Amino acid sequence: MDKVKIAIVGMGNCASSLIQGIYFYKSMKKIPGLLHDEIGKYKIRDIEIVAAFDIDERKVGKDVSEAIFQKPNNTKVFFNKISKIGVKVLRGPTLDGLPKHMKDFPDEIRFKESKQKSVNVVEILRKTKPDLLINYLPVGSKKATEYYVNACLEAGVSFINAIPVFICSREEYSKKFKEKKLVCLGDDIKAQIGATVTHRVLTNLFEKRGVKLKRTYQLNFGGNTDFLNMLERNILGSKKISKTESVQSQLKHPLDKENIHVGPSDFIPWLKDNKICQIRMEGEQFGGTPVKIDLKLSVEDSPNSAGVMVDAIRCAKLALDRGLSGYLEEISAFAFKHPRKQYTDDEAFRMIEEFIKNRMEEKNATFPKRKWNGKNRKY
Ligand SMILES: NC(=O)c1ccc[n+]([C@@H]2O[C@H](COP(=O)([O-])OP(=O)(O)OC[C@H]3O[C@@H](n4cnc5c(N)ncnc54)[C@H](O)[C@@H]3O)[C@@H](O)[C@H]2O)c1
Repeated sequence: MDKVKIAIVGMGNCASSLIQGIYFYKSMKKIPGLLHDEIGKYKIRDIEIVAAFDIDERKVGKDVSEAIFQKPNNTKVFFNKISKIGVKVLRGPTLDGLPKHMKDFPDEIRFKESKQKSVNVVEILRKTKPDLLINYLPVGSKKATEYYVNACLEAGVSFINAIPVFICSREEYSKKFKEKKLVCLGDDIKAQIGATVTHRVLTNLFEKRGVKLKRTYQLNFGGNTDFLNMLERNILGSKKISKTESVQSQLKHPLDKENIHVGPSDFIPWLKDNKICQIRMEGEQFGGTPVKIDLKLSVEDSPNSAGVMVDAIRCAKLALDRGLSGYLEEISAFAFKHPRKQYTDDEAFRMIEEFIKNRMEEKNATFPKRKWNGKNRKY
């Protein structure tokens, strides 16, 4: 049975939901909560974790099946019957992954740095041979992200970037992955029904119905370490760019800066991994009359993006199987907030479906193995 081998850096809430999901669906025949049961020949159960890195003393040294339930992780536990996987979380280098302001908060809700020495990441990747490494580092970890990108390039591992540090959407990095015959996807994962996709679809609706959007905001708050981390406003630059551009891209004429506000707003510990999002949209329609939308979204933050990640992982492996390399546009446009080029969500959906379907047609094809016909230069 073909497997998709993954490594993960950052064993926080998102990694917890992803791994719980892989084991949750292993025992199920029907797969509710996912866009695709099968992508190419890959089911969710074919995803196998072979390496994991973190810096928190409560996670480092533990089997992945235990590490994902350690504090400060606080996402909903929807599946805890995971027996030992046999993969221990290894100590990666801290670099800029540990925000200074976190030390002012109680241990159980913040990161706690391990005193262990960091491992040689390239060596581990060469030994465990993952197809892909998934970057789940905290927002603002630019140096740490670049460190893992370079480790991937050196060890020959493809890269999925779930965070708003711009890597895959940059030509420079895409070229490097292409040269090594690896793929890269990103940046900044877009959740199933999250604040970004909801705000984008509504913005697109105003555009499609001829209503002028005049002002809008999107405020987000929650009680996980991602929101605690983002209390430090200095690290928010790329998160704000990623989220704002994603909404602006849906308008023919983007709003002036002062008429759009998108961003994380506060940390409320008792909300844990429940994210609340408030969206306000003010428009002008026929005869200059006003229209207003106030929307409140409440969702468990980490499982919300894990399903999309499961599709991104399988599409990336499919691309590798087909011999593709470099930046993967169809998947990045569908699954990430900051792809190189923005499309509407309808277009991105069509693109990813087309990408998957081509492979399915190949798989279902019954014709004999095709031979090279030199004369006509065709198969
Ligand atoms: N939840 C979503 O739907 C969503 C959507 C888009 C982007 N993201 C991004 O994904 C990332 C992960 O989110 P999360 O909720 O799992 O965060 P989290 O805070 O729960 O997890 C981060 C993990 O990284 C570890 N870490 C910190 N520095 C490290 C280093 N140098 N090396 C290795 N590990 C290190 C921490 O100990 C922690 O375990 C964040 O950047 C978040 O903004 C999440």
